[in-house]
Amino acid sequence: MKFRVRPVNRLAGTVEVPGDKSISHRAALLGALAEGVTEIHGYLEAEDCLRTIAAIQALGADVTRKGPGHYRIAGAGRYGLQEPGDVIDCGNSGTTARLLLGVLAGQPFWTLLTGDASLRQRPMARVTEPLGRMGAAVVGRAQATRLPLAVKGRRPLAAIAHTSPVASAQVKSAILLAGLYADGPVSVGEPAPSRDHSERMLRRFGARIRVERGAVTLEPGDLHGAAVHVPGDISSAAFLLVAGAIVRDARVTVERVGVNPTRTGILVALEAMGARVESVPAGAGDEAEPAANLTLEAGDLRATSVGGPLVPRLIDEVPALAVAAAVARGTTTIHDAAELRVKESDRIAALAREFAKMDVSVEERVDGMVIVGPRRFRGARVASGGDHRMAMALTVAGLVADGETVVEDTGCVATSFPRFVETLNALAGGPAVTVEA
Ligand code: S3P
Repeated sequence: MKFRVRPVNRLAGTVEVPGDKSISHRAALLGALAEGVTEIHGYLEAEDCLRTIAAIQALGADVTRKGPGHYRIAGAGRYGLQEPGDVIDCGNSGTTARLLLGVLAGQPFWTLLTGDASLRQRPMARVTEPLGRMGAAVVGRAQATRLPLAVKGRRPLAAIAHTSPVASAQVKSAILLAGLYADGPVSVGEPAPSRDHSERMLRRFGARIRVERGAVTLEPGDLHGAAVHVPGDISSAAFLLVAGAIVRDARVTVERVGVNPTRTGILVALEAMGARVESVPAGAGDEAEPAANLTLEAGDLRATSVGGPLVPRLIDEVPALAVAAAVARGTTTIHDAAELRVKESDRIAALAREFAKMDVSVEERVDGMVIVGPRRFRGARVASGGDHRMAMALTVAGLVADGETVVEDTGCVATSFPRFVETLNALAGGPAVTVEA
C-alpha cells in the first residue's frame, strides 16, 4: 500500500484521534489480571493493541467487544491465567512483548512469544535480564535477548530493586507487573522519568504503589477490575498538530487528547519553536489520565534543542518533530536519544535516509541528529521501512513539499492510527492524500 500526497495550502477543523496506545495495552493487561470486570471505553482498535487483546484471550481472559472501542474483560485474577495452546504473536508491538514478559514471569507454565521481522530485531535483554534475576526462566534467540522467546515463570518471584540504564516505560512496567508475583516490594529506578501510565493504572486497579526519589515501588497484591476511559493518543495527534504548525494557512484542533505530563514533550518542543499551542482541559479522559482539546495554528518556527529529561517525554514524536525542524529557521539538535535506534525502525537512520530523498539533510549523530533549516521538502518517492511513525511523518512532510510525494509501504499505519488518511483529509477539506494498492 502507498500514499500519494499532494501539497496543501490550508488545513482547518476539529478532529479526534484514536485511543492512546500505551494506555490501551495496560487496560487490557491489568483487566486480565484483575478480579472482577473491567470495562474499557475508547480502546485503540489498531493492530498493536488488538495483539494484546488476542494475547490475554490466549491466556484465558474472557473478552467481549461491546461496541467500537468498548471492551468488557472478565478478569482471570492474579493466579487464574492458563497456559496458551499456541505461540503468542506480538506482531509489531514492543509494548505487547515486553509487558507480557513481565506478566509471564509470574506464571507457572511455558509461553512462547514471537513477533514480526522488526520486533524480532528489537532488544529484549533489558527485560529478560532483570526478570531472570527475579527467577523467571527465559530461553530463546541470541542468549534470550531476541524474540522468539519461551518464558516460564516462578512463584513467588524474588523481589528486586532494579536500576534501568535506559528511561523505558516498557522495562519499568514489565518489572512492576512481575512484581505482582514477588515475595516482597519491587522497585525500579530510571535515569529520567518515562511515561507513568502503568503506575497510574495499577493504583486505579487497587495496587499499592509509591513513587519516591525517582524510583517506583510496588507491593505485591491483588488487582480489582475498574472502568477505564482511554483518552486520544498524543502520539497520533502529534502528526496533525505538526501539520497545523507548518501548513501555510492552518488551524487544527484535536479533541480529548491525553496530556499526561510524561507525554507532552512534543508540545513543549513546539512552543520552544515559537508555535502557539492552545490547551483546554477536556473531561472525557479517565480521571487518572488528564485530557485536553489541543489547537495549533500556522506560524513561523525557529530551531530548538531537545535533550535530557525532555527526550522520554517525546521519544515517539521525533519523526513528526523532525519535519517541523526542517522547515524551522536555524539549527535544531536532538541528543540523548539513542533509543530512537531501537524503535520500530532505526529512526535516526531512517529520517536521514528518507529526508535526503526530499532534499532535506539530516546529520546523524550516535544519539540523535542535527537539522539545519529552513528547507523546502521536495516531492519524492520515499518509504516507511515498515515503521508507522515514519510513514505518517513523511506524509506530513509531503503536505508542505514542492510537488507530489509518494510514501511507500504504508500498511504499517494500521498499527496505531488506522484512520490517519481520512482524518488528515478531513482537515485538508479534500483528498490531499490518496491510498493506492
Ligand atoms: C511505550 C514506551 C516507549 C514508547 C513505546 C510505547 C509504552 O518505549 O516508545 O512506543 O507503552 O510503554 P520504551 O519503553 O522502550 O521507551
